[in-house]
Amino acid sequence: MENAATNRTCHDACSPSGEHLIRLEQVGYAYRNGTMHQPVLDGVSLSIGRGESCAIVGTSGSGKSTLLNIIGLLDQPTAGRFLLDGQDMAQTTAEDRAKARNQTIGFVFQSFNLLPRLNALDNVALPLLYRGCTRQTARHAARHGIERVGLADRAHHRPADLSGGQRQRVAIARALVGQPSLLLADEPTGNLDSATADDILSLLLSLNREQGVTLVVVTHDESIARRMQRCVRVKDGQLQEQEAGAPYA
Ligand SMILES: Nc1ncnc2c1ncn2[C@@H]1O[C@H](COP(=O)(O)OP(=O)(O)O)[C@@H](O)[C@H]1O
Ligand SMILES: [Mg+2]
Repeated sequence: MENAATNRTCHDACSPSGEHLIRLEQVGYAYRNGTMHQPVLDGVSLSIGRGESCAIVGTSGSGKSTLLNIIGLLDQPTAGRFLLDGQDMAQTTAEDRAKARNQTIGFVFQSFNLLPRLNALDNVALPLLYRGCTRQTARHAARHGIERVGLADRAHHRPADLSGGQRQRVAIARALVGQPSLLLADEPTGNLDSATADDILSLLLSLNREQGVTLVVVTHDESIARRMQRCVRVKDGQLQEQEAGAPYA
């Protein structure tokens, strides 16, 4: 019985090849700088299926961003394996990983990271230009993306002329314009008031539900973590799965 249930869950959440989109096996990570050696993650295993939403919580400095950067191919584990859609990332070239970052993964950051000289539309179009699309194709997709996050009437405003919540909407549109299968967000509501934070999370969750994009959000905000399907906690370099409904102590 238990096997049947497990198989069904796996079948729903995995790619046709039966692989989880994200799979970390006994991952370790240590920062090294000269003689400095700081272990941050130790023996972290985590599988996330396609279409799932998962929060990563933990105290400041516990290693949440380090973990997200490994999942986002910005850093490589110093121990263990990371497989993205079944492919061992240690076996890929830097070029392959850059391509995967551009085509498979969208990033959203706490500080938005928009280019100040470009208007909202051109910020959103940028990943497609990097990918080699024509300006016309990129702008067309960007306009659609801006509309999807409810900012059609702000498309020609620069970031400085937008509120924090509007800037984060632009950043979300930019993260999604290349139709990634994975959206990673590092404290996406950290610079926003609580009502705006709630709106932004609702937007992320609706994109997860309606478009099936897998969503991984680093947050220290309990109310955000509770709205995700799953929640894992980084503590003392290890990962603990929080049970649904358990207190986030
Ligand atoms: N580039 C770096 N060099 C050295 N240590 C770092 C670096 N980045 C982060 N750290 C350290 O690694 C630990 C985990 O950092 P981080 O993943 O950013 O934590 P979190 O996102 O949970 O606040 C912290 O102790 C931090 O000081
Ligand atoms: Mg962090």
